[in-house]
Formats: sequence, structure tokens, C-alpha cells
Amino acid sequence: MFSRRNFLTSAGALAALSLMPRIVRAQTAVNRLAMPPLWDATETGQFALNAQAGVTNFIGQADSVTWGFNQSFLGPVVRMRSTGETRAEVTNALDEAISVHWHGLVAPGDVDGGPHQLVQAGDTWTPTLPVDQPAATIWYHSHTHGETGRQVYNGLAGVIHLTDGEDDARGLPSTYDVDDLTLVLQDRFLGQDGRMEYALSMHDRMMGFMGNAMVINGQVGATAVVPKGIVRLRLLNGSNARIYGLRMSDNRPMHLIGTDSGLLDRPAALGFLTLAPGERYEVLVDFGDGREVSLVSEQSLRADLGGGDPSVPPFEVLPFAIDPALPARITRLPDEIGGTRPDLVADSVIARQISLDMGMGPMAMMNGGSPHAINGQSFDMHRLNFQVGLGGLERWSVSASMMLHPFHVHGVKFQVLSENGAPPRMQNTGWKDTVLVNGQAEILMRFERAASTKLPFMFHCHILEHEDGGMMGQFAVA
Ligand code: C2O
Ligand code: CU
Ligand code: CU
Repeated sequence: MFSRRNFLTSAGALAALSLMPRIVRAQTAVNRLAMPPLWDATETGQFALNAQAGVTNFIGQADSVTWGFNQSFLGPVVRMRSTGETRAEVTNALDEAISVHWHGLVAPGDVDGGPHQLVQAGDTWTPTLPVDQPAATIWYHSHTHGETGRQVYNGLAGVIHLTDGEDDARGLPSTYDVDDLTLVLQDRFLGQDGRMEYALSMHDRMMGFMGNAMVINGQVGATAVVPKGIVRLRLLNGSNARIYGLRMSDNRPMHLIGTDSGLLDRPAALGFLTLAPGERYEVLVDFGDGREVSLVSEQSLRADLGGGDPSVPPFEVLPFAIDPALPARITRLPDEIGGTRPDLVADSVIARQISLDMGMGPMAMMNGGSPHAINGQSFDMHRLNFQVGLGGLERWSVSASMMLHPFHVHGVKFQVLSENGAPPRMQNTGWKDTVLVNGQAEILMRFERAASTKLPFMFHCHILEHEDGGMMGQFAVA
């Protein structure tokens, strides 16, 4: 039975309370974390997503009206081949326009699902997705300009496993919901009655909306039950604005095996991992000692990547319980996993400066202007920022003002060349499509997919309130 007293006396709960002052725990005694339903499209080459409204009860109090694909909150994990064509069928059963963008898919602009490709209420969109890229954990979410924050917050998001079928040969855990866990990290604001709320104050618009409850795969207060062996965690930050600074509560290593757009050549042991909105990381964690442990996070990192403020205790993201009856198929860390680290040669490149701008104070709000912009200009659906040559290599120097901004580019995977002039942090040495910019970062990428001026690619800050506020631009590739 749930007891407030027990809740308050657990160390993790106390830490959680500093993040979440007014609530929050599910009121059931045993609450095993559920994975999203798995839609395996590897054989059929097709999947269907039905955007719909439903009801979610997060903490056993009032119901929340939420949105999801094929269910009431979030969508299925779609397992898709990393090469070949897959046909998607997206139906919008909501009463407003949405879009579905395949974040991390290196696909042409005409199937990218950005803000120019709205699926109107009642309509169906059937893009054929040509895929030819390394195996990776990517995701999909709504991308309706000005409404992305609210629509994703309501639940229009899900994960895709791009697979090449080689994980067993690599020695990687690959049994869905046993030793291969998909974890969608989101914070949500639950009001006094337990209902999910999204009401933006001026501060939220400036800084991004933060919740008071940790929600994993749509669940609050759940425990991941894992075998006594090595478990793969596919982490997605699907939050609107919160940046997690993750570590294991007993400081055991997280062995990084994959970044946004692919697997590494070999695992790299990390004690601390930042996870910004839009990013994915795959890590292996060894539960072989059978001890319970938690994934914890520093409070949101707004200005510091060094591990947060040591005077503020971390909060619990997800506790793990070990079930020795579950098959522990992998008990040894693989040496080589056969992925690649990008090593593009930056000889003849086109260089661009991208500045992620936040205007503070009343001036920024005047003249109907938005405080959020890129290179001084707020996003305009009708203005193309620039054109890129198909097959061209470009080096973008991205600078972030006022706070940390996760910078994402559609239609490519990129190499992080440097962070503030230094070689990238270990977690940024793999293929990426989103990079947390803390000052300045340089990225290098080759544009291999075309995008027309009518259906261009986006580049933007992945703090969704910043994106909605205009910290976004668009470019064609031809
Ligand atoms: Cu995940 Cu343009 O977005
Ligand atoms: Cu994207
Ligand atoms: Cu931003």
C-alpha cells in the first residue's frame, strides 16, 4: 500500500521532492515500468500511426486528457530496417492539424514531416520512407509550427529502432522489454489534482517549460525490472525543455554504445551523461551484482555541464529492481560493436555561423517580435534561410546565447568537431543529429538528401518553447 510516510522517508523520494515540490508518486505497491507496444515493421515494411485523444491517469488522482498514437499517451516503438523502404500511414483523428517528423531519419525533405507537411484533422498521410543509414535509436513527433511544444507535451511522440539485424552478432542485448529497454524521459507538470497542465508563463516561454513530475514511457513512479546481467538502455529525452545530467546512484559506469545517429566502434565508460531535449543515447549498464540502483539526474542544467550544483541533491529518474528469474543473455561487455565514429575530412567546406539568439527584457517583446531567433531573425514559414548543395560538406559554427540550447538539424547526421574550441566530450564523438551547445560548437556534415524550397529542412533549438518561439530556420538542399 502506498503510504505518504514511506514515500517521504525514502532517500530517492526526498530528492525527488526537491524537484517536485507538490507531489508525486503512483499509488500502487508494485509498479513495473511498461515498455511502449512494439510495432515490428522489419518484415512487412509498413506501420500505421493513428493520432488520437485519450485519458491518462498519472498518479491515481484526476484523469488527464492526453494524446498518443494508437493509444492514449505517446506511441509505439516502431522497429524499422535501417536500409530499404518503409511505408508509414499517419492518420489524424484529432480535431486540429498535426505533423509527424521522423527525427533522426536521414530522409528527403518531401517525407520529413516538418511544419510544411501538416496532416489536417481527419486526413491520412502515407509517406514512403527511404532509409539507408546506420542502425540507431531515433524518434518521431509532431512538428506543427507554434504548436510543437503543446502537441508533443500532450503525447504526440514515439521511438523508432532502426535495425540492421546485427545486434546479436555484436554481443548487444536485443530482447525487447527484457534486456533492451526503451526509456522516454519526460517531465510533466501535474497540478494539485494530479492533472497534467501546460500553461505557459512569460518565464516558461523564455526559458522553456519545466514539469514537477518525472514521467518515463508515460508512467510516474514505476520501477524497471531487469535481469541480473547487462542491460541496454535506449534513452530519449522527449521533454520540452529539461536537460538531464544522468548518472547511476552508486556511480557504476554507464557504457556508452550509441549516440543519436548510430553505434560507436566500442563502448566507452561514462560516469555522467547529459541528455538534452531531442537527444538519444544508448548505454549498457551491468546489473550483475544483483543490487538495486537508480538512474538519477542533476537538476536541470541551464548553465553548467560539469555535473550540476553539488549543493542541490539529484532527483531519481528511474529505480531498477533485479529479477534473477529473467534471462541474463549478455553478461560480458562487448569489446567491439562495429559502429563508426565520424571522421569527415573538412577540406573544401562551406562554413556558416549560426547564432541561437535570446533577447531579454521588454525590447525583445516589442513590435510583435519574438525573443527567440536565429542570426537575429525569428522563424518565418515563408522565408528560406539558405540553400545547401546536394552532396556538399558544410561546417557550421553554432553559438548559444544566455543558456544551453540543444541544436538539431533535419535530414543529416553530423560530426561534432569541437566544443568551445576543444575536442568534443566523449558523448559527442559519435554520429549526432542534436548537440547541446554550451557556448559554441562546430559541426560538420554532408547533405545527402534533397529538400525543395517548398518542403525544406528545419534547423532549430530543441527546447520546444524556443522552437515555437522562432529559434528555428529552414534550408533547401539541391
Ligand atoms: Cu525533433 Cu525538428 O525536431
Ligand atoms: Cu528532426
Ligand atoms: Cu533554446
